[in-house]
Amino acid sequence: MKAKLTLHKDFSIGTLDKRVYGSFIEHLGRAVYTGIYEPGHPEADEAGFRKDVIRLVRELNVPIVRYPGGNFVSGYNWEDGVGPLEWRPTRMELAWATLEPNKIGVNEFVDWAKKAGTEVMMAVNLGTRGPDAARNLVEYCNFPKGTQWSDLRRSHGYENPHGIKLWCLGNEMDGQWQICHRTADEYGRAALEAAKLMKWTDPSIELTACGSSGSAMPTFGTWETTVLEHTYEYIDYVSLHTYYGNRDNDTPSFLARNLEMDSFIKTIAGVCDLVKARKRSKKTVNLSFDEWNVWFHSNNAKVEKWTVAPPLLEDIYTMEDALLVGCMLITLLKNADRVKVACLAQLVNVIAPIMTDAGGGAWRQTIFYPFAQMSKYGHGAVLRGEIACDCYDTNDIDGVPYLESVAVRGEQGLTIFAVNRNLSEALALETELAGFDTKNCRFIEHTAMRHDNLKATNSVKAELVRPAAQIAGKLDGATLELALPPASWNVIRLGL
Ligand code: AHR
Repeated sequence: MKAKLTLHKDFSIGTLDKRVYGSFIEHLGRAVYTGIYEPGHPEADEAGFRKDVIRLVRELNVPIVRYPGGNFVSGYNWEDGVGPLEWRPTRMELAWATLEPNKIGVNEFVDWAKKAGTEVMMAVNLGTRGPDAARNLVEYCNFPKGTQWSDLRRSHGYENPHGIKLWCLGNEMDGQWQICHRTADEYGRAALEAAKLMKWTDPSIELTACGSSGSAMPTFGTWETTVLEHTYEYIDYVSLHTYYGNRDNDTPSFLARNLEMDSFIKTIAGVCDLVKARKRSKKTVNLSFDEWNVWFHSNNAKVEKWTVAPPLLEDIYTMEDALLVGCMLITLLKNADRVKVACLAQLVNVIAPIMTDAGGGAWRQTIFYPFAQMSKYGHGAVLRGEIACDCYDTNDIDGVPYLESVAVRGEQGLTIFAVNRNLSEALALETELAGFDTKNCRFIEHTAMRHDNLKATNSVKAELVRPAAQIAGKLDGATLELALPPASWNVIRLGL
């Protein structure tokens, strides 16, 4: 099968905001306890953080990590997690029916983020709590000194403010499952008042309001309209969340789910612009896709309630899951003009690219690789490429192209990311490079990730699914020719 990709050096969607390569750590399952934090582990540092996990997070190159939830945040008292450890309570954590010992809180997480080379995107509780607790947390984290909450931080050993710039106004407040779920009007009002107080406390922060928990929610669209009507002038982003699964073992349909993600993004960008027009506002609200991933393998797992750090949501990812994650990353980049933040949910142990054994090793899931390669090479101008190739139909989407691809031009040259959705045939890809100084272009490498078994997984013992170098592509003037193996994730790099 053949495919053609045409790229023009100057036809760009926009410059990518690196925060699109964000991720997420929630106090859920083993993400924190026995994930990032395990005192007594042979790899633990003096603070109890696992250095083997920090190394993998650094390799994944994640610029921002959302914290502390997720559903967890809607019942969280941030004050429980600061100050002397012996004073911190163990709480019934109602979102996930576990016990939360509060050994890690805001300050420790900020310390961990520094070690992991990342920044914190902090969520406030708009479930059981509201504007007052939210503005106190901003004051605790960001105000220099001389006030109750800033001085409390200093008394806890943090003289300098944490300077947390990006904040979430609650989590998935449209969902019945959320602790203190609200209607759109109720949430819109609470979010507005919290936003005002938070920005008055620190005008330099940016705020994300909760959008829908997914495009299948009954209030999808109207939720965003109502929330934005209330909050428009005080917020900077609206959130989107989505998870996909291959429950029916229909891989061609599964690999097309990112097209649904694409229309989700475009719909919500449209809703933002509708409210902008109604308000005659100059300001554009952008998108924060702050939960996205494949999630279904662990759906029926039985886990004992009211324990500390039970193995919740521990999906073990396959080769085909990595293909969809690659397609979803490509979709995020193709919407770089509106998606400014995105968080792969989550980072460690919980629907995660990084897994750990308590007391044992840390390892990379299949989905680790497309993310790591993109967050390494996908920086700069996202190009508006033209794809010509055969398509297939699924139950709900017609015209799914066999080739999914995006290209980025930046300091590291030109990088083409591509998924071949054809499960049985290679794609002979011809790329036309228009407007480039082709005399000075050179082929650097083509890596592909594939496996004969689409259900192949990695484990602590062996990372069987990982990218491998391919034979060099043929670069002749402005034309690059190479083959994408069946059902593969590809990264093609050219020096400019
Ligand atoms: O990421 C797991 C959960 O998915 C989060 O806690 C919640 O926000 C979403 O429903």
